[in-house]
Amino acid sequence: MEAIVYEEFGGPEVLRLARVDDVHAGPGQIRVAVRAAGVNPVDYKIRNGWMEAAFPTPLPATPGSEFAGVVDETGGGVTEFAVGDEVLGRSATGAYAEYVLADVGAVARKPEGLGWPEAAALPVATATAARVLDELAVSAGETLLVHGASGAVGSAAVQLAAARGATVVGTASPANHDYLRVLGAVPVAYGDGLVGRVREAAPQGVDAVFDVAGKGVLADSVELRDGTPERISTIADPDAARHGVAFSAGGGTSPDEGRQLGGYAQSAAVGGLRIPVEQTFPLGAAARAQQLSEAGHVRGKLVLLPGEH
Ligand SMILES: NC(=O)c1ccc[n+]([C@@H]2O[C@H](COP(=O)([O-])OP(=O)(O)OC[C@H]3O[C@@H](n4cnc5c(N)ncnc54)[C@H](OP(=O)(O)O)[C@@H]3O)[C@@H](O)[C@H]2O)c1
Repeated sequence: MEAIVYEEFGGPEVLRLARVDDVHAGPGQIRVAVRAAGVNPVDYKIRNGWMEAAFPTPLPATPGSEFAGVVDETGGGVTEFAVGDEVLGRSATGAYAEYVLADVGAVARKPEGLGWPEAAALPVATATAARVLDELAVSAGETLLVHGASGAVGSAAVQLAAARGATVVGTASPANHDYLRVLGAVPVAYGDGLVGRVREAAPQGVDAVFDVAGKGVLADSVELRDGTPERISTIADPDAARHGVAFSAGGGTSPDEGRQLGGYAQSAAVGGLRIPVEQTFPLGAAARAQQLSEAGHVRGKLVLLPGEH
């Protein structure tokens, strides 16, 4: 099969399209012919060799951890899915490829009304946002501050928190403020003077903080929480411990992941939940997609389309 591979850690130039051995579904797994694969910041972080402590990566490696596609092989004991089913999920093997393996617990059926790129944009963003909102115990009537609200995880966090009945204040550059209003957040610009702007936007105070962006806002976040690091969580700032703030690492699969993902997919199919796809690329342009991801200003998701050339 065709896949993007890299044999050494480094910049986007280490990525190349190659022919690799086919993968086959093991017990509890399905093999999926990939129609679309989401691009995540962790993909370039791993490729750069920055994540070896958390995710040791044997080389050669294929990036990618989420997909939408068609089941074309089922492993032993699999009763949930059959060949020909259209699905989306988190992958057990690199998703920048023609075929991917996935554990059935991390997969859901793709509703007919949901496009392939839009489906591939959902699994990581929704699972991450839902996990952290649960960890922060965000509930109706509370005010949540989301740093980095216009990216993929931020977009999901804003909408899922608003759906819980929370008031959401979200940071982004001014160009994304109308977008945040549509998602249901009060927009605030990041940068100098952030604390004052958040206080103005949320005079009632901030009950919890979800730092998606990881760009050095934990001291400001503690100040906005009246000096306590409680109910602040970051998924991207390596300085969390220094501020006494929780780092939510993820990595595991919750038993309910597939069912939850199915619900998000149903909502996205009818225009409820929105993780917009900013741009799609053929598989061979994975390096260009990762470069854009690494530049740090994607609204929603970048998606690779293995069937396109
Ligand atoms: N620990 C975990 O479980 C986990 C899971 C998923 C992701 N992550 C990490 O979470 C981070 C976000 O992931 P993602 O997929 O949402 O990324 P993304 O979609 O690439 O995020 C891009 C967004 O970040 C915003 N941004 C850039 N600089 C910012 C700043 N200084 N303050 C606030 N927002 C800023 C941009 O808004 P503007 O264009 O308006 O500047 C853009 O919309 C990444 O570091 C990723 O590795 C961790």
